[in-house]
Amino acid sequence: MSKVNSQTLAASQSRSFCTRALSNILRSAASTVLLLTATANATAQDKPVETGRDLVEDLHTAFGEHHARAVHAKGIILEGRFEPTRAARSLSRAPLFEHATPVIVRFSNFTGFPNIADNDPGANPRGMAIKFGSPAAPSLDIVTHNFDGFPTRTATEFGALLRAIGTSGPGVAAPTPLDGFLATHPDAKTFLTTQHPAPLSYATTAYFGVNAVTFTDRNGRARPVRYRFVPAAGEHYFGTGAGPAPDYLQPEIAKRFKDGPVRFDWYAQLSERGDLLDDPSIAWPSRRKLVKLGTITIAMLAANTAEADRALTFLPGRMPDGIAAADPMLATRTEAYPVSFGERQ
Ligand code: HEM
Repeated sequence: MSKVNSQTLAASQSRSFCTRALSNILRSAASTVLLLTATANATAQDKPVETGRDLVEDLHTAFGEHHARAVHAKGIILEGRFEPTRAARSLSRAPLFEHATPVIVRFSNFTGFPNIADNDPGANPRGMAIKFGSPAAPSLDIVTHNFDGFPTRTATEFGALLRAIGTSGPGVAAPTPLDGFLATHPDAKTFLTTQHPAPLSYATTAYFGVNAVTFTDRNGRARPVRYRFVPAAGEHYFGTGAGPAPDYLQPEIAKRFKDGPVRFDWYAQLSERGDLLDDPSIAWPSRRKLVKLGTITIAMLAANTAEADRALTFLPGRMPDGIAAADPMLATRTEAYPVSFGERQ
C-alpha cells in the first residue's frame, strides 16, 4: 500500500486500533463460515519474507504515517544509572557488567499515533527502551514491552497482522481480514485480548524483552536468556473503579522522583532444553530461573523537546561482545528501526 493510501486510510479510522481489533474479534465469533473464505484471502496476501522497510510500511498501513516513530510514537525520555551484580559477570563477559553505566530510558505507549490517550486500550502494551553507556558511545540497547509475549512467531507474520489491521477498519464487511488472521493465529488473539489494564505509572509495570539473546561467559559457555525488568514499586494497575485520565502517565513519571528513586531490577530468565529461541509469541515457563543482572535507577527527566525525541533511537541489535541475538526477529527489528528513524528526520 502506498504512503498516500495509508495516510488516507488512517485518517478515515476514527476508532482506536484496539477497539477495532476487539470488535472484529467479537464479530468473528458470529461468522465462522464466511471466515474460511476470508482466511484463504488473508493467507494469499502474505509475503514470503518481510524486510525491515516492508514492516515499517506495514506499520503505516495499521496506524498511518505521522512523521514520528512508526510505532510507540508517544513517549517520554529519562536518565539514570545501571549498577550490575556479580551474578551478571558470571553469565556474560559483556563489559557493561564490569562497572556502573549511565542509561537513557524511554517509556512509551503502543501504536504509531503520537497523541494516543493513555486510557485508550490501544495504548497497550506500554514500552520501555533502554540505552546503556554514554549517548555518544552506547554499548547496548534493549527495547521491551509490558507483555510477556508477542502476537506472532515471526516478523513476516507480524507484517501480515499489521496489514490485516490496516484493512479491517470501520465499514469493512465481516469477516474482515483481521477476523481471518486471528482465526488462524490464536497467539495474536491472546495478545490483543489479555493485555494488562492501564498501569498506575510507567514505573508500576514489568517489561519483557521477549526475543531470546545468548549470553557468553569468559570461558565461552553460551546460554540463551530472555530479559525482564521488574519495578521496585511493585506492579499496580487501574481496577474497575475510576479510570485513568487521557494524559496522566508522562506528568506522573516526571513527578515520581520527589517521593523516592524509581528503580527496576533487570533479570535474565534462563532457558532450559526445549524452550523455543525463535518464537516470542510463547512465554517460557514461569518456573525458569531468574538471575538478577543489576538495577536501573532512573534519576531525572531528560530534555523532552520534539527534537530530542526525534533524534533518539534504539537498535534492538546493538549488543556488546558477550551478548548476541538468538531470535532471528532481532535482525529484522534492527533493519526496521533505522527506517522509521530516517523517516522522521
Ligand atoms: C518484527 C517485529 C518488530 C518490528 C518490525 C518493530 C518495529 C518497530 C519500529 C519501526 C519502531 C520505531 C523505531 C524508531 O523510529 O526509532 C519500533 C519501536 C518500538 N518497538 Fe518495535 N518492532 C518489533 C518488535 C518489537 C518487540 C518484540 C517489542 C517489545 C518486546 C517492541 C517494542 C518497541 C518499543 C517499546 C518501541 C519504542 C522504542 C523507543 O522508545 O524509541 N517491538 N518498533
